[in-house]
Amino acid sequence: MDEQQWTMVVAAAIRAPSIHNTQPWHFTASGDRLELRLDRERALPVLDPTGRQQVISCGVAAEFAAVALRAAGVEAEVELLPAPEDPDHLATVRAGASREVSLGDAALAEAVGRRHTERAPFLPRAVPAELLDRFGSDARPYGVWVKTVTGSEEEVATAFLVSRAEELERGDPGYLAELERWLRTDPAAVDGIPVDAVPGEDPATRPSNWLVRDFVAGSREPHLFLPAGDPTAPPPEVERPTVVLLGTHGDDRTAWLLAGRALGRLLLTATTEGLAASPLTQALDWPVTRTRMRARLSLLGYPQMLLRMGYPSSTASASSGRRPVSDVLRFDAAG
Ligand SMILES: Cc1cc2nc3c(=O)[nH]c(=O)nc-3n(C[C@H](O)[C@H](O)[C@H](O)COP(=O)(O)O)c2cc1C
Repeated sequence: MDEQQWTMVVAAAIRAPSIHNTQPWHFTASGDRLELRLDRERALPVLDPTGRQQVISCGVAAEFAAVALRAAGVEAEVELLPAPEDPDHLATVRAGASREVSLGDAALAEAVGRRHTERAPFLPRAVPAELLDRFGSDARPYGVWVKTVTGSEEEVATAFLVSRAEELERGDPGYLAELERWLRTDPAAVDGIPVDAVPGEDPATRPSNWLVRDFVAGSREPHLFLPAGDPTAPPPEVERPTVVLLGTHGDDRTAWLLAGRALGRLLLTATTEGLAASPLTQALDWPVTRTRMRARLSLLGYPQMLLRMGYPSSTASASSGRRPVSDVLRFDAAG
């Protein structure tokens, strides 16, 4: 693998979603190996003190790298935590022999550049049950389960825990200060959350049972997705997105990386099917709401990611920036 090929692979890897768009990774390429390390300088000590959500983000990046390699006609093998003495070395992606590129490989790779977090209301159209089944079967080889939150009892319990967590966060000055550090008003910003990608809180413009994370909590004027429109028009329908939960049997770095890999695959498959998603991870940020979710939904194992999913409307939100590949990729001749 030459520098140009690894640059192409890392360009795909960094399209991965990451908590607060922190992009907590850096890469070293040498020979046929690409090492992915956690970048501790981009940590979120209040929201994510254990680094769980950042490690999940890195798991997605490892998956996107593998998808890009396969679509370039190269076998890809991902080894997680290959060096026990260096726990921040989260994964090594190894390029193998040449392979034939299937249509499926090409479709997933093409979805890498199109996927983005979509927080605007979805169209009132259900996600097909076969697709939800496929998400589950695709995740199984990673040791990750996918559960659709269905039935009014589960929905009410989960939506309540998301709201409760959101309330806890809005009352936590440390959390708000951290959030503010990652909120961006410059549309050319290379990291953080652009205000254009987040909805306002006004229930008239975003009626939903599910609270997306309020990135403009605090003093700022909320940014509204939709124009105020005709005040005499009937109120928009309450959004009923499909909500899926991804979880693992363990709750360590390996489990988090596997959850990230499965999430990456699920998001790309969803994109190829015309779907979009946005995480609702507030309820998993806090040990109290996360533990309660395990009990209320009788989960076997640990919830790692809660996603609202649906078909995006035409008022799709802006996509967020990325640091250039040259900032995150180093070549090591020694390999
Ligand atoms: C582990 C994880 C947790 C996230 N939690 C939330 C969340 O609670 N609310 C939200 O709106 N977006 C959440 N996101 C989405 C990120 O904000 C988003 O991926 C990032 O801003 C980059 O934007 P993009 O996905 O459009 O490329 C999360 C992403 C990851 C990987």
